[in-house]
Amino acid sequence: MKIHYEATTDVTKYIDNHGSVALEERSPQFENFMRALSRYAEITPQTKILEIGTGAGWFPIFCALRGLSCKGLEISPQLIELAIENGRKHGVEIEMELGNLEDYPLPRNFYDIVMASSVFEHVEDWRTGVAKVYETLKPGGLMYFESTNKFSFTSGEYTGVPLYGWLPNSWRYALRKRVEGEDIMKLGIDFHQFTHSCLRKEFQRLGFSKVLDRVEIADEAYVTTGLRRNVVRLAKQIGLAKSLALTFAEATRFICIK
Ligand SMILES: C[S@@+](CC[C@H](N)C(=O)[O-])C[C@H]1O[C@@H](n2cnc3c(N)ncnc32)[C@H](O)[C@@H]1O
Repeated sequence: MKIHYEATTDVTKYIDNHGSVALEERSPQFENFMRALSRYAEITPQTKILEIGTGAGWFPIFCALRGLSCKGLEISPQLIELAIENGRKHGVEIEMELGNLEDYPLPRNFYDIVMASSVFEHVEDWRTGVAKVYETLKPGGLMYFESTNKFSFTSGEYTGVPLYGWLPNSWRYALRKRVEGEDIMKLGIDFHQFTHSCLRKEFQRLGFSKVLDRVEIADEAYVTTGLRRNVVRLAKQIGLAKSLALTFAEATRFICIK
């Protein structure tokens, strides 16, 4: 992947659709991240946090408003500008760096937490990207990983086609190029539709000491609907129910401890 200094079609569309940050809408998501992470580490103003792929900047903005130290690494110059502007609208300065995770020189053994939410599907060489995250975490540091799940029935990436994630890569790429134009391949395409098992193998291969999937990190007390609560309960107790839940869930999700 490369940094594209001109605005690509997908970035322009992203800014139109998600450009302004309504904090009250994002607040439950932020609280969920923080609640999940704080079960494995104490989060204080001294905790060094990095978010990879900041979009409109809501995560670093929330951190800044809470007095937490979070830096953003983002590949799109337009989105960096947007995130900084959004921060100022909410009265905070956020720290952003322009770079591609695949080759950005992140400091070794430096961060306590790396957030990677809805980004790895867009990172062409995702294995190098995850290795970079591993290297930049301190021993005991946490990676929060959330991305596509191939066999989900719906897809956040492309809502127009049912079972979109099930399509072979070449079909998905051809479809997206046709609908959104060739430059979707510069930024915005979901290069990858992951599965929990393939991710788990890679995280373990890299050396994470604990690899916890979405069932293992789910806290029943905060699962919102009755149906979901029952699924989580069953999946925590019965192996087959867990495999099914992980296969068809709307996203892959892990917390990994270095
Ligand atoms: C779908 S947005 C997610 C934004 C935010 N994390 C969220 O959860 O709302 C993906 C972001 O990752 C950025 N991105 C994609 N590939 C990247 C890479 N290789 N290095 C750094 N940022 C990247 C995109 O420009 C975009 O801002």
